[in-house]
Amino acid sequence: MERTYALGFDVYGTLVDPLALAEPLQALVGEQAVRFAELWRVKQLEYSFRRGLMQRYVDFDACTRQALLYTQQALRCDLPESDQGRLLEAYLYLSAFPEVVTTLTTLKAQGHQVVAFTNGVEASIRALLTNAGVLPHLEDVVSVDDLRTFKPDPAVYAYLRRRTGRAQNETWLVSSNAWDVIGAKAAGLRAAWVRRQPDAVFDPWDVEPDVVVSRLDELTEWFAGHPG
Ligand code: LAC
Repeated sequence: MERTYALGFDVYGTLVDPLALAEPLQALVGEQAVRFAELWRVKQLEYSFRRGLMQRYVDFDACTRQALLYTQQALRCDLPESDQGRLLEAYLYLSAFPEVVTTLTTLKAQGHQVVAFTNGVEASIRALLTNAGVLPHLEDVVSVDDLRTFKPDPAVYAYLRRRTGRAQNETWLVSSNAWDVIGAKAAGLRAAWVRRQPDAVFDPWDVEPDVVVSRLDELTEWFAGHPG
């Protein structure tokens, strides 16, 4: 029998696009919308990294909320609380990248175990992925919230392996976030980098992904040609 893999899919940036928030932001902050969406995402991640290092955990929803407060102050666009609430609500309605469902369906048909693996809070991620029509195509949602720390803490990659019940070299992270790929590789997992933008830079840390694709559906062919 052909051996298969456990594949842990990062959520934000890999299955759904947090920068799509630039659209609802347009009505609120006009021409600053793209900058706002980008800074919000950068700060959200920075807050999770700092929280992890400081061992002062608050969940990813709190990081997102506090990053929103930072961003509106930094860009000098004070949003009323009702608008802040609407933006945080929009975070639960991000749409999936177009190839997500067919990719997950094909990978499952190939015999792979497909799960979400995320910094996000499980309940929020389940709501988001339900709204995006993706949840029924995943076998599980593995959230770092269970450990009260964040990617790229090596403990969370070990947790993915424990939850999927697979050996290190049979467990993959699939992520568009280079820092996440490097975290997984450093923890002994295998990793695919989804380079959605051709100008995306992979950090020069002398660590390489096992495979680079520009869209998720390229993975189905790659895995078909590289059985475990
Ligand atoms: C996640 C973020 C970090 O879904 O992209 O884990």
